[in-house]
Amino acid sequence: MTRIRLTVDGHKVSDDVEPRTLLVHYLREQLGKTGTVVGCDTSSCGACTVHLDGTSVKSCNVLAVQADGSEVTTIEGLAADDGTLHPVQEAFRECHGLQCGFCTPGMIMQSVALLAENPSPSEEAIRLGLEGNLCRCTGYHNIVRAVQHAAGASAAATGEEVTA
Ligand code: FES
Ligand code: FES
Repeated sequence: MTRIRLTVDGHKVSDDVEPRTLLVHYLREQLGKTGTVVGCDTSSCGACTVHLDGTSVKSCNVLAVQADGSEVTTIEGLAADDGTLHPVQEAFRECHGLQCGFCTPGMIMQSVALLAENPSPSEEAIRLGLEGNLCRCTGYHNIVRAVQHAAGASAAATGEEVTA
C-alpha cells in the first residue's frame, strides 16, 4: 500500500491505496464520489473525466498514486456549496443536454475544461473538444448547444462577443 495525499473537491484527503488502483476506482470506492462513472474498459468513453490540477483527464487512465499531491475536481465539486449549479451544469439542464445522463458527468467536466481554454469556441471546436467523450444515447446536438449556451452566458456576463 502507498500513502497518498491530495485535495478532492476542495477537501484534503489522505489514504492508503494499492499502487495499481485507478484514480476512478479510488474516487468511487474509497471516497464515495460515485458521480464519476465508468463507461468502458478501453479509455475511450470519457465518462470518468475529472480535472487533475485543472486539466481534464480520464480518471480510468490515471493511477491514484499519480494524483498524489494534486488537486482533483469531480462533477460533485462543480456546484456551489449552497447547491447553485455551475453555469455549464445549468446550460446542460436548460438545453436538455442529456438523456439517460450516464455520459453527462464526463461531458460536463470536459466542457468546463474546454471553455476554460477557449471561452468562445466555434461549433467545430466544441465537437473537436468533446470527441473523446461518447454519448450512447447519441444526444450530441443538444450537448453542443449546451456548451454554446454556456459560452454565450459567460460572454454576456463579461460583455464579450461569441463566435458562432
Ligand atoms: S471509463 Fe474512462 S474512458 Fe471510459
Ligand atoms: S445521455 Fe445517455 S449516454 Fe449520453
